[in-house]
Amino acid sequence: MAILVTGGAGYIGSHTCIELLKAGEEIVVLDNFYNSKPAAVELISEISGKDFKFYHADMCDQEAVDDIFEENDIEAVIHFAGYKAVAESVREPLMYYRNNLTGTFCILEAMKKHGCKKIIFSSSATVYGIPEKVPVDETFPLSAINPYGNTKLIIEDMLRDVCNADKDFSAALLRYFNPIGAHESGKIGEDPNGIPNNLMPIIINVCTGKQEKLTVFGNDYPTPDGTCIRDYIHVVDLALGHLAALRSVREKKGAIPYNLGTGNGYSVLDIINTFERVNNIKIPYVIGDRRPGDAAECYSVPDKAARELGWKAERGLEQMCRDAWNFVQHNK
Ligand code: NAD
Ligand code: UFG
Repeated sequence: MAILVTGGAGYIGSHTCIELLKAGEEIVVLDNFYNSKPAAVELISEISGKDFKFYHADMCDQEAVDDIFEENDIEAVIHFAGYKAVAESVREPLMYYRNNLTGTFCILEAMKKHGCKKIIFSSSATVYGIPEKVPVDETFPLSAINPYGNTKLIIEDMLRDVCNADKDFSAALLRYFNPIGAHESGKIGEDPNGIPNNLMPIIINVCTGKQEKLTVFGNDYPTPDGTCIRDYIHVVDLALGHLAALRSVREKKGAIPYNLGTGNGYSVLDIINTFERVNNIKIPYVIGDRRPGDAAECYSVPDKAARELGWKAERGLEQMCRDAWNFVQHNK
């Protein structure tokens, strides 16, 4: 039996595919390369030394998704595919609702048709909106502050409803904090199409001269150095969290949310300083205005995942910064 990985050519998906293959799982990958490249598929095989079936298809194409379930014995789905740029979702909400919701709908319809009852969903810390306090645990109130976040909330609700309707169904709702870093081989990492939106890919663009300088969004927050605090997690730790979640959906039923973070908060200046120090490079930056919708602080209580999944992030900030830069050095 195989695990269907949607969005498996993307940043988190590709790292997870490697860990799944290394662990001896059979995988089938679906991606339309909207935000990834065909080379990622080759590299997953090269790094893991294993082959797998790849479908170049759109998850919103119900027929194409059905065919994958017809042609393969799918035991569980790890569902990464989706659009993820917050600002773009504010400008183009329908595009986000169409892709993220229709795509998930097609996957769930095909799962239903074929009796597949296990799913691991890429949710996000964004479902906590602007948290009233930190650290954030899974019982905190949920809210959406942009259309992207709303798609995550709606999909979590869809999965809760599906699990309520079918007591044999299991869904792990993985609420990622801020994934950064890259595979230690330097062969795969974050390689988005178009202009990046997140801090680390922007730092990389500045260091490679693609962008002149980094703008730090505000230094007047009520934090020790005035810049926002986030819970950065190494993408390989995050990938390993999916293996732990796979064990869990094989045993437990119901829709269960888990924070996947380190529990440590670092400021924007901490990231800049650590990146500069470990990679011996300067990051030109200026302090700009606050970015609308940014929480001053957002970091996790990761205890539930440790307790129930037996998973804990192990890689520190220095390694995250080193591996992110190592990926760039290997791909000049
Ligand atoms: P990514 O963009 O690198 O990967 C997503 C993949 O899905 C891409 O390869 C893209 O081509 C594919 N895709 C998108 N729409 C598709 C469609 N209709 N059909 C088939 N493939 C499609 O993003 P990522 O950083 O790897 O994120 C993976 C998931 O995790 C996303 O759902 C994202 O919302 C969620 N997430 C990411 C972060 C983050 O900071 N990276 C944080 C929280 C949650
Ligand atoms: N930042 C800057 N300058 C930039 C970009 C970012 O100062 O040019 C700051 C932001 O203000 C924030 C921090 O860097 O304080 C991190 O910003 P990101 O955009 O990298 O990440 P966010 O925490 O805003 O959001 C990310 C994803 C969301 C996801 C959330 C929680 O983009 O999709 O993490 O997982 F929901």
